[in-house]
Amino acid sequence: MHITAIANQKGGCGKTTTTINLAAELGRRDRSVLVIDLDPQGHASLGMGVGDRDLPGLYEVFSDEAGFHDVVLHGVCEKVDLVPANISLAMLESLLGDEQGRERLLLEQLERFACLYDNVLIDCPPSLGLLSINALRAADEVLVPVEASCFALDGVRQLLDIVALLRNKYGMELPVRILPTMFDTHTRFAQTVLNQIREQLPVTISHARIRHTVRVREAAWFGKTLAEYAPDSTAAADYRSLAAELIEASGRARATHVGATTRDETELARTDTTEDNAMTQQAEQARRQMVVLTFDEIDCQRLQIAGDFNDWVPDRNIETRHINGHWQKVFTAEPGVYEYRLLIDGEWQPDPTNPAEIPNELGGVNSLLQVPVQH
Ligand SMILES: Nc1ncnc2c1ncn2[C@@H]1O[C@H](COP(=O)(O)OP(=O)(O)O)[C@@H](O)[C@H]1O
Ligand SMILES: [Mg+2]
Repeated sequence: MHITAIANQKGGCGKTTTTINLAAELGRRDRSVLVIDLDPQGHASLGMGVGDRDLPGLYEVFSDEAGFHDVVLHGVCEKVDLVPANISLAMLESLLGDEQGRERLLLEQLERFACLYDNVLIDCPPSLGLLSINALRAADEVLVPVEASCFALDGVRQLLDIVALLRNKYGMELPVRILPTMFDTHTRFAQTVLNQIREQLPVTISHARIRHTVRVREAAWFGKTLAEYAPDSTAAADYRSLAAELIEASGRARATHVGATTRDETELARTDTTEDNAMTQQAEQARRQMVVLTFDEIDCQRLQIAGDFNDWVPDRNIETRHINGHWQKVFTAEPGVYEYRLLIDGEWQPDPTNPAEIPNELGGVNSLLQVPVQH
C-alpha cells in the first residue's frame, strides 16, 4: 500500500490530469488503485466519467453523514475505485472550526481502508489549505506536477516549507518528487527551469516527463483516460513510464510518521517546558541561530512579533530596531520551521512581506519562518 499526494498550490499545472492517467496506468499494470478527489471542483471525478455533482464524498464522511465505504465508487476504470468530490468539500474548514486533530482526518480514514489497495492517489486542490495538509499528512510521498514557468521554483519552495513544517511538528520525512508536465521538447526553457529546481532545492525529479499534446485536453473533454482515448499519444506513453517509475520507487520511498498516531499532536508541536536537564539546555543553546527579520515595506508606529519562537507573547525575547524607517526584529531560535504573526499598530495579521503562509486553527493564516541549520 502506497499513498501519493499529487499537490501543487498552483492551478493548471497538471495535478488532475496526472492523477487520472497515473491511476489508469497503475490499474492496467494490475495494481488495485483508489483515487481520492480532494478538490471541491471535482475535476478528477469528471475526468473519470463521473459527472453526477450530488454524489457524497469526503465531506459527508468527515461530517459523519456517511461511512468511507459508502462513498467509494467501484471500477470507474480497470482496477480503479474513486472517492468523488462535490462542492461541499469547500466548507470543510468552517465545519471543523478549530477542532483538534483536524489535519489528520484523512489519515485516520486511510489507516483503516488504504490496506485494501496497492496505491492510493490523492488529487489536491490548488491551495495549501486544510485539504492539502490532510493529504500530505496521510501520504508516503508527494508528487508535484510542475509546468515550466518563471513561478515554478517559488511554488515548489512553498510546498517544501509545508513539508519542512510537517517534519518539524510530526517527525514525518515526506519524499518530494517533481514531475515535469506539459513539457515542451522544442525549447530550452523547460530544461532551464528544471535545472534551476535541481540545483536549488532538495527534491527528486522524475525520469518521466509528460509531454505537451492536444490529446490530453481532448481526452478530458470526453471524460476518458489517455489509455482509452489516445493510447498511442506521447503523453500516454509518458504516463506509462511514470507508472513504472513509481511502482519501482514505492518499494523504497516511505514517509515516517514518528509516533504521530499515539501521541497528542499539540504536545508534539511544543517544546517540552518541563525539561530541566542542564546538558540538554546547553546543547539547545549551542544550536540557536541569530535571526534578523527586516520589514522594508511596513509603515507603522508600532510593530510587534509573536510566534512559536517566543510562546506567542508579542516581542518577548525580541530586540526591536528601527533604522532609516525600516523595522527589524532580532532574536535567536533553534533551527526549524516556525509559525508567527505580526501586530501592526495593535492589529494581528500575517506578515504582508512574506508569501509563505499556513492556515491556522482560527480560520486565518500564519506566516512561516525557516531557521536553517548553520554548518
Ligand atoms: N501534457 C499536457 N498536454 C496538454 N495539455 C495538458 C497536459 N496536461 C494537462 N493539460 C491541460 O492543462 C489544463 C490544466 O490541467 P489540470 O490537470 O486540470 O491541472 P490542475 O489539476 O493542476 O489544475 C487542463 O486543461 C489539461 O487538459
Ligand atoms: Mg485539478
